[in-house]
Amino acid sequence: MRVRAATPDDVPAIADLEVDNLGADAWSEGLVREGVLGNLPTISYLVAEADGAVVGHATASVVADIAELQRIAVDPAHRRTGLASELLDAVVAVARAGGADRLLLEVREDNAGAIAFYAAREFVEVDRRRRYYRDGATAVVMRRGLGHGCGGQGR
Ligand SMILES: CC(C)(COP(=O)(O)OP(=O)(O)OC[C@H]1O[C@@H](n2cnc3c(N)ncnc32)[C@H](O)[C@@H]1OP(=O)(O)O)[C@@H](O)C(=O)NCCC(=O)NCCS
Repeated sequence: MRVRAATPDDVPAIADLEVDNLGADAWSEGLVREGVLGNLPTISYLVAEADGAVVGHATASVVADIAELQRIAVDPAHRRTGLASELLDAVVAVARAGGADRLLLEVREDNAGAIAFYAAREFVEVDRRRRYYRDGATAVVMRRGLGHGCGGQGR
């Protein structure tokens, strides 16, 4: 098992992943700590490990029937090994357990790698939000259904 719930010991590693992968949009170590400690209602943090180190993380918010994937990132040296897919599977499990029937996210429209990842994992574009990021970039809003339809994709 390479993915597990985050603990307070993981906070520095998660904060480093934020800075390394999200730059100006990174969350502070203090904010990460509040979330990992459970002080932010609705928020769950997950981490992925490789060789005994935390090399990826995901953050989800679940409120009633809608879950939001707020973060997913993997250290560049460990990408394309399925870690983000495992993190996403864990987020889906958390979302379903919390009663959500759909998972939404925003991704920069210039982040082709992440958009390809999401498209390969059943997300479809449902909207665009202009000036969503600090630098004025547009966000693509994507959605994945979490239903258990009979043989369907749950969209
Ligand atoms: C997006 C990201 C999380 C993917 O992590 P990952 O661990 O490499 O993803 P996986 O190994 O589980 O990839 C699963 C599939 O997604 C697709 N995919 C992932 N990264 C891709 C890329 N850069 N280009 C094209 N397809 C990609 C592929 O179909 C891949 O399967 P394959 O490796 O067999 O071809 C990672 O690139 C990352 O951390 N990026 C920086 C942070 C970021 O942009 N996060 C999203 C913010 S909204």
